[in-house]
Amino acid sequence: PSCIALIAAAGSGQRFGAERPKQYLDVAGKPVLRHTVEAFLRHPQVSAVRVVINPAFRDLYETAVAGLGLAEPVAGGASRQDSVRNGLDALAESAPDLVLIHDAARPLIDDTTISAVIAALGQQPAAIAAVPVADTLKRGRDGVVADTVDRSGLWRAQTPQGFRFPDILAAHRAAAGLELTDDAAVAERAGLSVALVPAKEENFKVTTPDDLTRAARILDAGLS
Ligand code: CTP
Ligand code: MG
Repeated sequence: PSCIALIAAAGSGQRFGAERPKQYLDVAGKPVLRHTVEAFLRHPQVSAVRVVINPAFRDLYETAVAGLGLAEPVAGGASRQDSVRNGLDALAESAPDLVLIHDAARPLIDDTTISAVIAALGQQPAAIAAVPVADTLKRGRDGVVADTVDRSGLWRAQTPQGFRFPDILAAHRAAAGLELTDDAAVAERAGLSVALVPAKEENFKVTTPDDLTRAARILDAGLS
């Protein structure tokens, strides 16, 4: 099946608080976004990579992906959900069989996880990288523990989140304007069954400066 990776890179990195959006900061010698794009370009089952950006940072984008031969970037929107929907609309012309939607801010995505998400799409219409919750969960109230939450069956959702393309395009169009925090939630709302694909802690989302330090340590040590 044809499979396109759609990279959401139109955020502004408010929580990170750098002088530019975090996906354009260097880590281990190249921009975060370039690590992310290269991970999908080198995967043999991914036929193309398309990136959703904020056009205000077009120059940073061009520098980050120079020489990779990507198609024209897609303009994002105010929310991540809007950005992804714009990206899917732009892919409608090429109509791939499958799409893997991924955060630009997860540069440590590995081949094995990408393969596992694609493989799961053979059985289910949707599949997401995720990690089982390991810590004991507490619900807090005014700084003290109100109660302990049963963690059994709980997972932390990552990306990539893979879908059969026509399903997720229709689901996103139907969900426009809602405030759903990931694409799986959009799929769930459309009644699609979403497979959980065990992934790695290393595929964390760069959110704060400490996260970038952690990513640098892993990349510099050649662990990923
Ligand atoms: N994203 C996007 N369009 C938006 C908002 C976010 O494409 N309107 C992308 C980000 O670039 C990122 C991914 O979605 O790769 C996950 O979002 P997040 O980690 O929240 O990044 P930001 O929104 O940039 O950061 P913050 O929420 O701290 O501002
Ligand atoms: Mg955000």
